[in-house]
Amino acid sequence: AGLLRAGAPAGTAAAPAVPQGRTLTILYGTETGNSRDLARALAAAASERGLSPQLADMADYKTRLLKDEQDLLVVVSTYGEGDPPQPAVGFFEFLEGKRAPKLDKVRFSVLSLGDSTYEKYCEAGKRIDRRLEELGASRIGDRVDCDIDYEEPAAAWSGIVIDRLAADLAAAAPSASGFAIPSAIPTAAAAPVHDKKNPFPATVIENISIVGRHSTKETRHVELDLAGSGLVYEPGDALGIAASNDPAVVAQLLEATGLSAEAPVPVRGETLTLAEALGSRFEVAIASPRFLDQWATLSGARELAELRAEDRTADRLLFLRGHHVVDIVRRYPVPGLNAEALVAGLRPLQPRLYSIASSLAAAPDEAHLTVAPVRYALHGEPRAGVASTQLADRIEIGDTLPVYIQHNPHFALPKNGAPIVMIGAGTGVAPYRGFLQEREATGAGGRSWLFFGERNFRSDFLYQTEWQGWLKEGVLSRMDVAFSRDRGQPKTYVQHRMLEQAKDLYAWLEEGAHLYVCGDEKSMARDVHETLIRIVAEQGRVDRDTAEAYVRNLASDHRYQRDVY
Ligand code: 2AM
Repeated sequence: AGLLRAGAPAGTAAAPAVPQGRTLTILYGTETGNSRDLARALAAAASERGLSPQLADMADYKTRLLKDEQDLLVVVSTYGEGDPPQPAVGFFEFLEGKRAPKLDKVRFSVLSLGDSTYEKYCEAGKRIDRRLEELGASRIGDRVDCDIDYEEPAAAWSGIVIDRLAADLAAAAPSASGFAIPSAIPTAAAAPVHDKKNPFPATVIENISIVGRHSTKETRHVELDLAGSGLVYEPGDALGIAASNDPAVVAQLLEATGLSAEAPVPVRGETLTLAEALGSRFEVAIASPRFLDQWATLSGARELAELRAEDRTADRLLFLRGHHVVDIVRRYPVPGLNAEALVAGLRPLQPRLYSIASSLAAAPDEAHLTVAPVRYALHGEPRAGVASTQLADRIEIGDTLPVYIQHNPHFALPKNGAPIVMIGAGTGVAPYRGFLQEREATGAGGRSWLFFGERNFRSDFLYQTEWQGWLKEGVLSRMDVAFSRDRGQPKTYVQHRMLEQAKDLYAWLEEGAHLYVCGDEKSMARDVHETLIRIVAEQGRVDRDTAEAYVRNLASDHRYQRDVY
């Protein structure tokens, strides 16, 4: 499994075989699916040119095949502080480890996805690119690093590498040129009607606070109607929302720049008013380094110009995190600015992903979400997340939101009714509601255990009565809750409960349980990971290295899955 033959539709077996020069593997590493989608498009484009690519996910790529690769195209995303996608961690460990083979017969090129507002921009792709070279491989084309608006640079990279490979193929097999291509045009499954590029306007059918009135949080439950969309999802998948910016922020930007809301701006082949463009097409909160560079030129501000120096990446990013686009525009005015110049440095507004909190089996044609609005202050001014506050403040029942499904095969219920251990803090509990709805509605068996953490028992026990109902019915076998801010109680986190239950937890793992972690990456997921290693070491009576290897194996067997943000 894991290797799919791309672009070889059924019924072509009788076509004359294309004489092949070299094999081509397209290897991707993904968490949210962007790299996978790009890799698939690349495979289709390669097939159209008569190449026969094998498409493989780093998550289940057999690393022993690496030494026999010939041409290798890699598409990989970066997360957090330069980390590879979680499902690709095992592949990285192999590639960067001592057991990696010599690859002097391999030719490769890397497409690297990332976010330029992080210091270790595109680091995962850079690491692969560097390491393949170190192992003796040679480049078909230079690595291309892409920011969140990756479509164009990705298409350019793909054009270059495929042109080269196709040219080599033609040179290696001149006799083939007359007949090879038609069989390879991909005719497989029709593209979904609604996707990221063409989202479906889903009607909001429920939008309520699900915390008590004394809560220090404002978590909400939102239900969307997908009827007629053709959209389907599995529990664990995410919903992408093409959200819009707060009109109040757009108004601040217009005021700070003195530009007219009606000023026309070209955006990807259309002409919009500036207000429309800022409202629904561009990120207006955190600026990118590119915006900073352009603004330094436009404003002539010395402070900004100094930040541009090569060796000041960290300062630049610190500055960007500390300043909303509105703050920069206010503080460094640009006389005679025009609308086009303002948006030139801004990045396209990205859809926001939410773990779906429901199951189609239990709630047909619906997708439920658990949403905690993001609010913070910068320079004394309240600032907010885009989609979360749109849902909380600017969307009412009956309104529509453009949505699509982002499949997440790396966070899915086991097919065979194996036991599941679900660990979630805050809104990270969302996908588990979907898991249990699914198991209840389909009658799929299997033991289940929930660890849930939040601030206060009385106000923040999200979906409390639902879990309790499932416990009673036996859909949920066990539940341990941890509240961190209950007065008079010690601060308790999910990992404390895991430790208390270490013996049983280890027994569940030994019995084949699948373990899920969903929620905050930097704090919760890291500590839970550490705790897991500790539990395995103590309960399995093994040393730390062995315990780490045990947890790594869980991950490579797809029995340790994370959906963290
Ligand atoms: P705190 O805010 O009181 O620190 C959901 O946000 C829950 O996750 C809250 O109870 C929060 O506690 C808790 N949390 C914060 N940091 C955590 C960590 N490192 N590990 C586990 N839970 C954490």
